[in-house]
Amino acid sequence: MGNALLLEKSAAVRQFNSPELDNLVTDLYDTMKAEEGAGIAAPQIGVLLRLVLFGFEHNSRYPDREPVPETVLINPTIEPLSQETQQGWEGCLSVPGLRGQVARYQHIKYTGFDQKGNKIEREVEGFHARLVQHEYDHLDGILYPQRLSDMTQFGFLEEIADKLGC
Ligand code: NI
Repeated sequence: MGNALLLEKSAAVRQFNSPELDNLVTDLYDTMKAEEGAGIAAPQIGVLLRLVLFGFEHNSRYPDREPVPETVLINPTIEPLSQETQQGWEGCLSVPGLRGQVARYQHIKYTGFDQKGNKIEREVEGFHARLVQHEYDHLDGILYPQRLSDMTQFGFLEEIADKLGC
């Protein structure tokens, strides 16, 4: 946070199924795993392309969450399927050590492509929906602290660990 690249709007990926794209996906995957993240977006490693990666079977940063399928999502779109929102705790690899409560749409449809150019279309809810909205924001230069509505619900992980279950 504070790096100007993280505030930029990223450009659409034009070419699929290329060694460059495969290398980018590998770099993102390795970074996400090394940091035990639940998701990551290309701008977080300095690449201003509309590509995010997310998903986990079990995640030590979010131990009580349902698994989310590991997904490479390129040129995503998000459509809320209801206006219902839910507050939930978020963290970000670009904002280490902190968590904050952010309102996100509870139920969304998202679309995009994998790195081979295969279309992805899913309807999801809850943490999966939150994760996609968080990663999507990175592509428009938005970090979750910009979406905090209540600054009392923002703090260092060690300080608020007991709140995170609710
Ligand atoms: Ni993030």
